[in-house]
Amino acid sequence: MRFVVNTAKAAAQKTELAIVAIFEDGELGPPARALDKKSNGLISAVVDGGDVAGKAGELLLLTQTSGLPCKRILLVGCGARASFDRKAFRKALTGTIRWLSRKPYTTVYSFLAQENVRGADAERMARITTECWHTTTYKFTEMKSKKDKNDSALKSFGIAVKSSKVVTNARRGARQGNALGLGMSFSRDLANLPGNICTPRYLLKKARALARDTNRLTCKVLGEAQMKKLGMGSLLSVTAGSVEPAQFIILEYKGAAASTAPTVLVGKGITFDTGGISLKPPATMDEMKFDMSGAASVFGTFKAIAELQPTINVIGLVPACENMPGSKATKPGDIVTSMSGQTIEVLNTDAEGRLILCDALTYAHRFEPAAVIDIATLTGACVIALGKHHSGLMSTSDQLAGRLLAAGEKADDKAWRLPLTEEYADQLKSNFADIANIGGREAGTITAACFLGKFTEGLEWAHLDIAGTAYRGGGSKGSTGRPVPLLLEFLLSR
Ligand code: BES
Ligand code: MN
Ligand code: ZN
Repeated sequence: MRFVVNTAKAAAQKTELAIVAIFEDGELGPPARALDKKSNGLISAVVDGGDVAGKAGELLLLTQTSGLPCKRILLVGCGARASFDRKAFRKALTGTIRWLSRKPYTTVYSFLAQENVRGADAERMARITTECWHTTTYKFTEMKSKKDKNDSALKSFGIAVKSSKVVTNARRGARQGNALGLGMSFSRDLANLPGNICTPRYLLKKARALARDTNRLTCKVLGEAQMKKLGMGSLLSVTAGSVEPAQFIILEYKGAAASTAPTVLVGKGITFDTGGISLKPPATMDEMKFDMSGAASVFGTFKAIAELQPTINVIGLVPACENMPGSKATKPGDIVTSMSGQTIEVLNTDAEGRLILCDALTYAHRFEPAAVIDIATLTGACVIALGKHHSGLMSTSDQLAGRLLAAGEKADDKAWRLPLTEEYADQLKSNFADIANIGGREAGTITAACFLGKFTEGLEWAHLDIAGTAYRGGGSKGSTGRPVPLLLEFLLSR
């Protein structure tokens, strides 16, 4: 898709379709008003006739546009004008794009970004528009034998902004939203693939291909022999039951001076989590193919960075393996030695995410990073605590936590901070090893973070638990692409 950002005027722009807002009680925004005036009341006539009221979600197509340069007008109901905010703006766009995908038009112009949107300037509106294009048209058909072919005919999507003063910013926004959308789709594709296709080796293949196609991006990998040499006994204990070899994938994007400390993103890459010997119940076990969503979000963020080529340094670390039962699998009570030297009593083999992340966090120290953020579908408890709206955020740094919360807010990909104070660490006491890998029923999300915290000494570190936000279950089962928006927003704000 080609996105064109300019200061087009609704009443002067030639296009197959002009997309304009109409608000509750038939109130017209400036573009609709201009069209109405130039056409001697075309729009007020349909409002007066009761054909459209401006309710959120309403769409009305006008095909009689004589006297106007546009062939058609789509009136998009946007609800109350005073409460038109980012959420309502996204809703209007999503409805419009979904409708458009069934139409044969090749070029359209949206004038929605000429309205006042609470909490969004022209740059943000343009970014949301291009992002919404990708998230709304996204389809996962890779595993269908017949790919449905009703792809949109659209080639060019015009985004008209209010004034020439904001055009440069809006173009940057559109470009960032486009990169974000591509990154989210990349992430969603990986996460939606089943565990028999999306193996650790498959993730490696995708990371390598991304690096091959991208300036300033390189991909390295540690195999099991190298992990063993480094002493990653915790990570290796998780992959022990699987015939698929574990891969420790390292992406390095160098867009700034070598002296600039990088940000490290660590993504949990369990390509399937059976629970291991502490086997999970069958009911929704299929959803554990999404247990590499943290890894997918790291790759998706790198995809967006690959597009934008910002002047920052970022490292992506993805420990990738399966968690399987088997005669070689780790058993409850087994004690393993992590790369940090700390011994871990594996009381529950289903608490495997922290076991691979801890060695990755230890490894992260060698980059002398400015900040380390790990992203993981880590605990079912987080889904109970926060549901699907907020990712769980835990950090030992108020500053880093604040920045991540702000990034999530701006990107409409919100996180909520949970406490990470000393007293929770008591729950990880082990009678036999330095620490246990589970902390009992209480505050499961926090004790998981506490466990990780034992491996982040000296780091500016934050942990995102995305168990509730990375994918949806039930009828709309599938990856959401979160928290790529938060991560990209955070990185670009550095
Ligand atoms: N991948 C799961 C967490 C999870 C559960 C994500 C449900 C999404 C939905 C993780 O590996 C796990 O199994 N965690 C256990 C930890 C427990 C054994 C301490 C959990 O949450 O039950
Ligand atoms: Mn598990
Ligand atoms: Zn897991």
